[in-house]
Amino acid sequence: MTKLWADQPFKLIPTPTTTATEGLSKEVTEVATEMCLAHNVMVRNLNAIHLQCEQVTKPEDVIDFILFCQTSLEEIHTHHAAEEELFFPQVAEYTGEKNIMEVNITQHHAFEKGLKEFEEYIYKATPKTYDGKEVKKMLDRFGEILVVHLSDEIQTLLALDKYGGEKLGPIWAQFNKKILAQIKDMHRVLPCALGAVDKTFEGGKHNFPPFPWFLPYLAKYYYAKKHKGSWRFSPCTMFGIPRPLEFAKDVE
Ligand SMILES: [Fe+2]
Ligand SMILES: [Fe+2]
Repeated sequence: MTKLWADQPFKLIPTPTTTATEGLSKEVTEVATEMCLAHNVMVRNLNAIHLQCEQVTKPEDVIDFILFCQTSLEEIHTHHAAEEELFFPQVAEYTGEKNIMEVNITQHHAFEKGLKEFEEYIYKATPKTYDGKEVKKMLDRFGEILVVHLSDEIQTLLALDKYGGEKLGPIWAQFNKKILAQIKDMHRVLPCALGAVDKTFEGGKHNFPPFPWFLPYLAKYYYAKKHKGSWRFSPCTMFGIPRPLEFAKDVE
């Protein structure tokens, strides 16, 4: 007996291959790869919700799961808001192409409605109103569109190479700083994000996120304590090791 894991139903995005990045600058390759790995953190959490939502039924579990859903949504929001407010405008400025990220912004709008619907539901949810079947339906209404966007954005970034990669590096660093600065509650965001980092992805060849070595310890022994029950639904340990989803269905 085994359980489905958070690499489905929404597909993880492979990082750009050496063939795809041949001749491209180091910075563009790095930025596209890191963006891809950051996107996969969101995809794994969405999958963890999708695979577990129907089996979470006891009130004490539902309370924890609702918070897990909320923090996963906050992660998606923070990422896309920082892109629209800072990263995309800066890319438009350095490339001199005003509309270069337009397709990506249009895609953001395409999944916003579904995301909002889930958000409105899950912030009001209580063990009494919570319905796992509804949650799954809501995810199905925007998950696929979101993942298409998360994948397409990587191609847009690779195509920036013709404008010079060296300028993209500092813009990317600022974007990451903005994301960190926007975090209002580390007790929610850090365990949620780290719990969806798979260090073994693609043979473990990526050093992502490039955080100091002690951060997972800080997350596990300090930040994860406050909402301890919610991280039972995470697909990985705070140290980036994949683990079975406790509430996923058993499959033959
Ligand atoms: Fe992104
Ligand atoms: Fe995006």
